[in-house]
Amino acid sequence: TAARAEAHGGFAFDAIDISTDHQIHLPDGYQHKVLVRWGDALWSEADDAYQDGLVSVDMSDKVFGENTDGMELFDVDGKEVIAVNSEYVNPKINLPEASEGVPQTADEVQILKNFQGVTVMEITKGDNGYEVVKDSPYNRRITHETEMTLAGPLAGHDLVKTNADPEGMTVKGTMNNCGSGKTLWGTYLTCEENFNGYFGATGDMPEGEGYSRYGIGGEGRYAYEKFDDRYDLSKEPNEPHRHGFVTEINPADASSTPIKRTALGRFKHENAEMVQASDGRIVVYLGDDERGEYLYRYVSNGTWEEGQDGGELLNDGTLYVAKFHDDQTGEWLALTPETTGMNAAEILAFTRMAASAAGGTTMDRPEWVAANPTKPEAYVALTNNKNRGVKPNAGGDDTSVNAVNPRETNNFGQIARWTPADGNHAADDFTWDLYVMAGNPTVYDNVYAGSDNVTKGNMFNSPDGMAFSSDGMLWIQTDGDDSNEGEFEGQGNNQMLVGNPETGEIARFMTVPNGAEVTGLCWSLDGKTAFVGVQHPGGAWPDGDGKPRSSVVAVWREDGSVIG
Ligand code: FEO
Ligand code: CA
Ligand code: CA
Ligand code: CA
Repeated sequence: TAARAEAHGGFAFDAIDISTDHQIHLPDGYQHKVLVRWGDALWSEADDAYQDGLVSVDMSDKVFGENTDGMELFDVDGKEVIAVNSEYVNPKINLPEASEGVPQTADEVQILKNFQGVTVMEITKGDNGYEVVKDSPYNRRITHETEMTLAGPLAGHDLVKTNADPEGMTVKGTMNNCGSGKTLWGTYLTCEENFNGYFGATGDMPEGEGYSRYGIGGEGRYAYEKFDDRYDLSKEPNEPHRHGFVTEINPADASSTPIKRTALGRFKHENAEMVQASDGRIVVYLGDDERGEYLYRYVSNGTWEEGQDGGELLNDGTLYVAKFHDDQTGEWLALTPETTGMNAAEILAFTRMAASAAGGTTMDRPEWVAANPTKPEAYVALTNNKNRGVKPNAGGDDTSVNAVNPRETNNFGQIARWTPADGNHAADDFTWDLYVMAGNPTVYDNVYAGSDNVTKGNMFNSPDGMAFSSDGMLWIQTDGDDSNEGEFEGQGNNQMLVGNPETGEIARFMTVPNGAEVTGLCWSLDGKTAFVGVQHPGGAWPDGDGKPRSSVVAVWREDGSVIG
């Protein structure tokens, strides 16, 4: 009722306290259940795949992947289909103890490759709430081995040619799939983030800023290069140039070929927030999650009309880097040969260097961007940056404090928002403010206490995932320090909060098991169930014994009304 809403700052729930245990907590009147865990079968042949905490190599691409991240729900002919990322693996958990966290055989590498990528799965609501529809024709695993197409201006360029693909058109795998996006035409966007970590060199390492700026080199995180030449930089120096993109997947066709959209640039992509500008063009907001890297915007050349497959609009457009002026105005700087001194292909392959040349604003790790569906404004989570004011980024760019990244050694993070000129997301100018500066008002009485809308009762650190519900409320997920000690005392486990964009008020809605971050959020078609990702939990959640298992949970209101 209106009275209830007024009493709760516009929130339809009573905010909860912090937690420090290995459980999920929600406000009174809300329930949850685990929808799917790492290792759960997508097809009945894999019903018994998860045994004693392990999955065999044969079954490893027939189960739900590890470390769930960004996800989106689609209406496919009335069926509910979720596409969800599996960002990375925990070899100490995923492989036999004897391997000691490093793959010892090609089969163990294969298991890790198969636990990552994307899961597409149909879900349905039965007597026990939502469940995965096993054997659905929509179910699909996309892994580090799945064939995909390179599209856009970088496709076919010398920079992306390899021994296995001399044409530079066909790539295997999408890697380190972090945040997500949904196109206006109903396809899924999966965002390749820390792809650099999969490559290593068994011989001489190729050199140059194109590698160092992206942190490519040294030993691969999972020893892939010892068992698969594709990941060996001394043999395939161009393979890393084929990763770090936004990849489009059609969730309605399990036989479709995913498409890497090179026009959206190559960096450590967090998510891809698509909106239609008031002039009809497609705009995609893109964060590059690394200390002192940049916030981007892609604008298509063509316009989109309802009912159109807009895939080609993602091949033909302009990439921009954000510049935030200290007077709370800002502008999008086009990345062109004139502004960067690089050719069109180089701008897309080495976008970070292009952004440096154009003079964007170095940011405190841009994670998710969320656009308000009720008005023309967008928000970016700047998760934290211990190097702010301390040292430059990998390209040597200045990272002194500025108005939008105002705190040296920023361990708490902030959320910035901008309003495009004339309400047009394709306009080159905007005004901005900070929606919230996270902080700890019990430990500090200076800028590290946070902004006025941060209190003892709602404090948090490291905002990361963000999404708007259709009612225009901003849901904020954290991936921060959950030690509950020192400057994080009183903040507890990672959490999901709801922010009111109009009043600035923020209320804690959910806390997750210690060790976990909250990542990924989407809603059922009727809006009555929210699906929330729990990544890298600790303890033995959710089974109560055995290994922790990253999971997607369904959350709903006991009274059956729309959530939020
Ligand atoms: Fe995968 Fe930046 O989070
Ligand atoms: Ca993230
Ligand atoms: Ca994060
Ligand atoms: Ca993560």
